[in-house]
Amino acid sequence: MSTALDILLLTTCWAHVVLAPYTKVEESFNLHATHDVLAYGVLPDALQHYDHFVFSGAVPRTFIGSVLLAWISTPVIYIANWYGVINSKADLQIYVRLVLATLNAITLCLIRRATSRRYGGAASVLFTLFTCTQFHLPFWIGRTLPNMFAIFPVNIASYLLLNRASNAQKFSPKGVHRAIKLLIFTAVVFRSEVALLLAPILLQSWLSGRTTLGDIIKVGLVSGLKSIALTTIVDSYFWQSWPLWPELHGIYFNVLQGKSSEWGISPWHTYFSAMLPKLLLSSFPLSLIGLLIDSRIRSLLFPAITFVGLLSVLGHKEWRFIVYVVPLFNVAAAKAAAYLISQKKSKIFGRLCFLVVAGMLAANSFLSLISTTSSMANYPGGAALVKFNELFADREHVHVHISNLAAQTGASLFLQTHAPPYLTQIGIHPPPKSHNWVYNKTENLTQLDITNTKDFTHVIAEVGDDAAGFALQQWDVVEAVEGFERWVPNLDLLKGASIWELLQMVKSDKLVILERK
Ligand SMILES: *[C@@H]1O[C@H](CO)[C@@H](O)[C@H](O)[C@H]1NC(C)=O
Ligand SMILES: *[C@@H]1O[C@H](CO)[C@@H](O)[C@H](O)[C@H]1NC(C)=O
Repeated sequence: MSTALDILLLTTCWAHVVLAPYTKVEESFNLHATHDVLAYGVLPDALQHYDHFVFSGAVPRTFIGSVLLAWISTPVIYIANWYGVINSKADLQIYVRLVLATLNAITLCLIRRATSRRYGGAASVLFTLFTCTQFHLPFWIGRTLPNMFAIFPVNIASYLLLNRASNAQKFSPKGVHRAIKLLIFTAVVFRSEVALLLAPILLQSWLSGRTTLGDIIKVGLVSGLKSIALTTIVDSYFWQSWPLWPELHGIYFNVLQGKSSEWGISPWHTYFSAMLPKLLLSSFPLSLIGLLIDSRIRSLLFPAITFVGLLSVLGHKEWRFIVYVVPLFNVAAAKAAAYLISQKKSKIFGRLCFLVVAGMLAANSFLSLISTTSSMANYPGGAALVKFNELFADREHVHVHISNLAAQTGASLFLQTHAPPYLTQIGIHPPPKSHNWVYNKTENLTQLDITNTKDFTHVIAEVGDDAAGFALQQWDVVEAVEGFERWVPNLDLLKGASIWELLQMVKSDKLVILERK
């Protein structure tokens, strides 16, 4: 049983990688860093080829996650290659993401185990079902977002804090200290907001006597300094700028200089009123029931709720800043659901409770199906570049300009299959015919610039008011690439279309492939 649940968690995370293999702009720093580590290695001579010196993003980010991911992926890529299941560089993107998804899914399996131990088998089954039927966490867990590197150690910390027998009051300080070390490492290296999760955990561990103030200070100082040294050495090296501690730089830039608010300000209650419901779906109301019925759930969720409350003080809010608490809320929801379905006071009430829980899972599945289907169509840049590679696979001299929208919606370095680096050192080979194309993603070129630069033979251009500007006397439209626009209710339903066609996806042209005449 427990193996089946682990396999369900794992395959759900894998399915999202395979269904939506392309990536967006938020993921691109770490994706390209992983690409560069795989392609060029990490020695000083290799750094000149790295993408981040040209496309550096708003703030420097750490390389630690990407380097580890590339190294862990390397043996997997060798094995996959041995079995002949890698055809091109583009496939590597999927393997790298599958490795990340696997590592993170394992941490969910650990939390499931701890749930089983502390709250019983039914709660563990329900934890798995709620997690797998949600959308955001399984969809993003295999995406190279800094938060998805951070969630790996955070989940292990959650596991360490949760993993006790059902009525154990005693707590091994060792587990608490390990969890504290992991959270400090995460906050220093990957995502500074995790410090706000650590604070209530420290307070709680101290007040409940699981550790002492002296130990907290000792553990905190040692692991804090080690983590700072690690990130400063590694990242100063990769960014060639001494001294650099990316997360501190991020705090300075986003919080102290207030730059993050340029990305938008939300009301104070947004995390509670909009983002938690969106992340958790029906786990949200159930977790509130969990709070009412079980004091262990109250102490489980105290740090999570405090964390979200503290982050609410910052004007700029994004769901991914709070994603770390999703597994904890799912544990609470699972406990509540297990409580509901075990109601035996009256037959009718018991059945009703069972129906409510089943209905909530069905609702989750329906909403996640909709989100997954729309997301699959939401990476026109990736789709366009793959299409482009196919269309011109016989051509020799191709120099394609990749527009901003294409670069932001999936046209990643891994998809540049007809240009070096070919990663021959890990067994990938260039396409047999055409190679040495130039994929050019220079930003802010006007259509006139592109048309006048005779080197460009092709363009993957944005559709919009803009695209009209391309002089069609000089360019042929080869193909338009669609992307998700919205859902509309299907009016044919009355004429006997099936219930599965309740909604219809509307797509519209997003990108267009042009060839010089
Ligand atoms: C990409 O285009 C820009 C602008 O025309 C040009 O300066 C640059 O040299 C091109 N890159 C390559 C690799 O040819
Ligand atoms: C392109 O334009 C944007 C917005 O105007 C600007 O932030 C960015 O720095 C520009 N990029 C380059 C390479 O000039």
